[in-house]
Amino acid sequence: MSALLEVRNVSRSFRTTMAVNDVSFAVQPGELLGLIGPNGAGKSTLFNLIAGVLPPSSGQILFEGKPVTGWKAHDMARIGVARTFQIPKPYRQLSVIENVMLSAFLREKSIAGSRKLAEATLADVGLADYAGSPASALTVGLLKRLEVARALAMRPKLVLFDEIMAGLTPTEVGAMTKFVAELPVRGITVIWVEHVLYAIMKTATRMVVINRGKQIAEGTPAVMARDPAVVKAYLGEEMILA
Ligand SMILES: Nc1ncnc2c1ncn2[C@@H]1O[C@H](COP(=O)(O)OP(=O)(O)OP(=O)(O)O)[C@@H](O)[C@H]1O
Ligand SMILES: [Mg+2]
Repeated sequence: MSALLEVRNVSRSFRTTMAVNDVSFAVQPGELLGLIGPNGAGKSTLFNLIAGVLPPSSGQILFEGKPVTGWKAHDMARIGVARTFQIPKPYRQLSVIENVMLSAFLREKSIAGSRKLAEATLADVGLADYAGSPASALTVGLLKRLEVARALAMRPKLVLFDEIMAGLTPTEVGAMTKFVAELPVRGITVIWVEHVLYAIMKTATRMVVINRGKQIAEGTPAVMARDPAVVKAYLGEEMILA
């Protein structure tokens, strides 16, 4: 069986900064891949390359075996790649359900169909009670859930989560971790970027570690936590393991 996603020797530079430098990895269907690295490692940039927000400077991206390098974000969404933004970007003047309906329209052409999919997705992430609230009224924790709902309402095959735990209380982290861990069982493959390492260490089937744009290690969470290159990369950073 071919990989769901394959990233082959992908690089991206911004003027003199090599934000992503020759990164290669594959994700199999049903995996929950943790993508970790210190601040500025290139994680969000890598997500932007996979989701078609930015084209890579070089390298190849394949989805379900098909070359999709340089494809735009809406085309990537259509074939099944959705992502959340590290800084939630809801339409603040719209209601919570309207924000999710905008994503649902990718799969449901009627207003009624999109509303139904949005309602189901809001219930899924525990936001049903806030459907009619303006997005601007949500707390950080609820905004993160809205980001997750907006991505899942696109019915993705692969979802990219960029720090959906930042700013959450420990109880919210626990609930979100459980939710994310169940997605692969439901047929949604996950790549998860997170600084709250204990959450990701507990749930990821495999981890890719990057630092300064370069891939420095790959393996199971238990092996990564003991890898000298990984521990060194996190020196001076908060490595929240428990
Ligand atoms: N649009 C851009 N223009 C110029 N430089 C950028 C741009 N986006 C990212 N960078 C630079 O690329 C490098 C990687 O940034 P990126 O945001 O991908 O890191 P990150 O791993 O997501 O960090 P964090 O954990 O802080 O979110 C950084 O040096 C950053 O300043
Ligand atoms: Mg980032």
